[in-house]
Amino acid sequence: MSGLKEAVVLVTGGGSGLGRALVQRFLSEGARVAVLESSAARAETLRSDFGRAIEVIVGDVTVYADNARAVEQAVARFGRLDTFIANAGIFDFFQPLSQYDGDRLGAAFDELLAVNVKGGLLGARAALAELVKSRGSIIFTISNAGFYPGGGGPIYTASKHALVGVVKQLAHELAPKVRVNGVAPGGMKTNLSGLQSNGTHSQSLADIDGLDQMLRDITPLQIAPKPEDYCGPYVLLASAADAGPITGAIIQTDGGLGVRGIVNVRGGEAL
Ligand SMILES: NC(=O)c1ccc[n+]([C@@H]2O[C@H](COP(=O)([O-])OP(=O)(O)OC[C@H]3O[C@@H](n4cnc5c(N)ncnc54)[C@H](O)[C@@H]3O)[C@@H](O)[C@H]2O)c1
Repeated sequence: MSGLKEAVVLVTGGGSGLGRALVQRFLSEGARVAVLESSAARAETLRSDFGRAIEVIVGDVTVYADNARAVEQAVARFGRLDTFIANAGIFDFFQPLSQYDGDRLGAAFDELLAVNVKGGLLGARAALAELVKSRGSIIFTISNAGFYPGGGGPIYTASKHALVGVVKQLAHELAPKVRVNGVAPGGMKTNLSGLQSNGTHSQSLADIDGLDQMLRDITPLQIAPKPEDYCGPYVLLASAADAGPITGAIIQTDGGLGVRGIVNVRGGEAL
């Protein structure tokens, strides 16, 4: 058992993809779950799928007041907060620097980093007093793009590298009362979408043809995981019983991108 029975978890971007898989997984672990989600339609679907089991707050992670309201509602409903998961994110669809109009680059940067980085900091700030009370923890969703190039364009890569720093800094600052960790998933077919400022907000990763095959081709483990396949490390890190000594850690769940090497050995296939 993960020891999460009755624990209270707040996850941002819980209306789709990885966030929605986290909602289901934490509920199945016996936790109580609140979600901050910007899409009213996805929020409504969550309510109709999970009913009274969860608390759904419609709001924007880039707005401090929305994060504060989400924490307040989670605590009003469930009495405490044990884990805050900063998960909401948007993508740059691999757009290279050279393909931005110079005068639009700043707007794209501001929009993406506002969600992916500022959103997590605002949420962490809003959750802090409750997490101190519960001796709880924060988990950031990072990405392979937090470690390696080519998992996005320069803006997305910058945002995820920034989160690696945020995890280390907050783990340092908030010890001994609050643990702060990250999970860095590899690719998965989700609705991860683009930016209003460059008109890619209605595109989604799921529209990329052959994404799963591409993932199998580039990962040493030859896998194309689904969102639910990435949830285990979150459960581990949220559990004070299992992860009590863990802070400042980032679990890389990307099928082994860091061990691709130079020649293709595939020793595991020969046996
Ligand atoms: N899909 C991938 O290949 C992949 C790989 C590594 C990391 N990630 C990360 O996983 C996280 C979740 O992304 P996903 O792939 O599940 O995408 P998704 O689009 O399916 O889910 C993200 C959810 O966040 C919500 N959201 C977006 N902006 C928001 C805002 N300002 N305020 C509140 N909610 C907002 C969206 O409405 C959506 O429901 C992101 O941080 C992403 O960077 C995704």
